[in-house]
Amino acid sequence: MNPRLDLLHPYPFERLRELIARTEPPEIAPISMSIGEPRHPAPAFLVEALKKSLHTLGSYPLALGIPELRQAAAGSLERRFGLESGSIDPQTMVLPVNGTREALFAFVQAVVDATRSPLVAMPNPFYQIYEGAALLAGAEPYYLDTVAATRFLPDLEAVPAAVWDRCQLLFLCSPGNPTGAVMSERYLVAALELAEKHDFIIAADECYADIYLDAPPPGLLQAAVHSGRTRFQRCVVFHSLSKRSSVPGLRSGVVAGDPAILKRFLLYRTYHGAAVGTHTQLASVPAWEDDEHVAVNRELYRQKFASVLPILEPVLEVPRPEAAFYLWPNVGGNDETFARRLHARENVLALPGTYLARNNAGGNPGRGRVRLSLVASVADCVEAAQRIRRFIEERA
Ligand SMILES: Cc1ncc(COP(=O)(O)O)c(C=O)c1O
Repeated sequence: MNPRLDLLHPYPFERLRELIARTEPPEIAPISMSIGEPRHPAPAFLVEALKKSLHTLGSYPLALGIPELRQAAAGSLERRFGLESGSIDPQTMVLPVNGTREALFAFVQAVVDATRSPLVAMPNPFYQIYEGAALLAGAEPYYLDTVAATRFLPDLEAVPAAVWDRCQLLFLCSPGNPTGAVMSERYLVAALELAEKHDFIIAADECYADIYLDAPPPGLLQAAVHSGRTRFQRCVVFHSLSKRSSVPGLRSGVVAGDPAILKRFLLYRTYHGAAVGTHTQLASVPAWEDDEHVAVNRELYRQKFASVLPILEPVLEVPRPEAAFYLWPNVGGNDETFARRLHARENVLALPGTYLARNNAGGNPGRGRVRLSLVASVADCVEAAQRIRRFIEERA
């Protein structure tokens, strides 16, 4: 078997299962805040569109995707990031993918040249696929800590030039999981300048772009256009309907950006067999065309932040994130112990921060924090926050 499989780390949810395997929670309704799985109802129009598309099950889909989907996604990205109509060419700058997880993994396999001692740079803590994809592609992960002192963003200026010279791919995640931090347009342009200077590609994971509390977070394609890079050289962005439309089970997303890179990625995808089912593509068209359901979805998350934060703030150091649907509080002690005891006392599941990050020069940047996903209903999130508060007050 591929010896690189041995390099993969146990997935955070496996570790969480083990952590709580021997605890007996009380007999009150369990509330899971550990997984970032959207649970708002799927939009009815999308479900209808999916049903109407089932007649396409008799044909193989094309990896390139159907023109209607590429057009709808290009239009959606242009509206969202304030780009002129036609800035994103649907023929050459957009590809459908089976959710961003699949695409993030596959992209690394297509991009990395393992013969040149490659590095793949990524935030730390991070979405686990970045690291697994890098390891399986024969690259060494390079972790960029995102801590309170760096406003939860990677400090790109602190990275030595020799590291950038070996870097073939930089993962950016804005809005960030688990921190909810947002990169400014200036930050993104600085990243583009580094990519040019040191000849690497940027993969911008923007799957939370539509879930924000105040202003819409900027995106990499927007930063590219505004800095004169209208062909999106070295940039590929990853977008998903999972969060935008609350359909994580549909497995539908798109990648967009540099046409020269996407052409090679398409070649890879053709052999990988990663074409998106035509029924999924057809159902996705109205979801990219419509922004109203996205605003309704966003409003529900805002309500959760507005009701949960005042409950937790008196007992926890919990920053209000700019975007995404996570809280990343400092629990003032061992994060694993906190998560295990919280489960044992209140039947609420939180994810220990150390599970999402790797040890680095300054230790594990997830230490002492847990990730709380506000994906349950408003009422359940409020109930969970009250239980967390009670747990902390009784512990004190
Ligand atoms: C940062 C980040 N990227 C990508 C994904 C994958 O999302 P999907 O494959 O559903 O598009 C997730 C899912 O939780 C995520 O948190």
